[in-house]
Amino acid sequence: MKNILEAPFMVEMVRTATNMYAHGWDERNGGNISLRLNEDDVDDYIDVSKVIRRIPTGFRAPALVGEYFLVTGTGKYFKNVQYDPAANLGIIRIATDGETAELIWGYSDGGQFTSELPAHLMSHVQRMKVDPRNHVVMHCHPANLLAMTYVHDLDERAFTRTLWQMCTECIVVFPDGVNVLPWMLCGTNEIGEATAEKMKTARLVVWSQHGIYGAGRDLDETFGLIETAEKAAEIYMKIAHLPRLNTISDDAMHQLEVRFGVKARDGYLD
Ligand code: 13P
Ligand code: ZN
Repeated sequence: MKNILEAPFMVEMVRTATNMYAHGWDERNGGNISLRLNEDDVDDYIDVSKVIRRIPTGFRAPALVGEYFLVTGTGKYFKNVQYDPAANLGIIRIATDGETAELIWGYSDGGQFTSELPAHLMSHVQRMKVDPRNHVVMHCHPANLLAMTYVHDLDERAFTRTLWQMCTECIVVFPDGVNVLPWMLCGTNEIGEATAEKMKTARLVVWSQHGIYGAGRDLDETFGLIETAEKAAEIYMKIAHLPRLNTISDDAMHQLEVRFGVKARDGYLD
């Protein structure tokens, strides 16, 4: 067996968690990541027939039976992932009942997956329907996006248009826009279901007064998605209190659609 700490997916996960911490998006235990793995990726490194523990998830996800996920642990600090991946991360497989996680590796100090597993797994189910190559769901607490939910209209079209207007590349990076949930109690199946519903139409879902969820094909793409939205929110928070003399017009946005071969969400541009 090869050393799992050298597996490309593990190296990338550790680097991503470390980078998210460095960006200030994951204070204390804030944030969580789930990366869907192929069995072929995993069985070079671990004996997948050995289940360490069985942990109930509290919800049924029949679409994910047999799927493997590398998931951050609940209460774990992103700051520390690089120093002890085996304690801060775990690899789970969804059992045939669809509601039990079989721990195959990690959570070595007796811990378990993030409290936001419902939002992660339910979002995976939805995003896989839209794009079978979706492998990542990422949650974090970036300050400017969070700040924006205190002062900006939470209407999704209005919120998206403001972000698109803050940097030229935004509409290119997230033409599907940003969906927004009102404040809800986190760590519940209810917020998981609401997030997954929002994931049907966009890869970014803001949790008002809490943070953001992103989904994508790999860790880099998903990180970049959140990074771009957060940059736009930062610019908004710098200018929101000032008179706006200039902006990116809808006509300019249409030019960007043509130049970059993207299509803005229906009805979001005039
Ligand atoms: P966990 O420590 O359970 O992953 O929770 C962190 C968080 O961000 C809750 O929304
Ligand atoms: Zn959170």
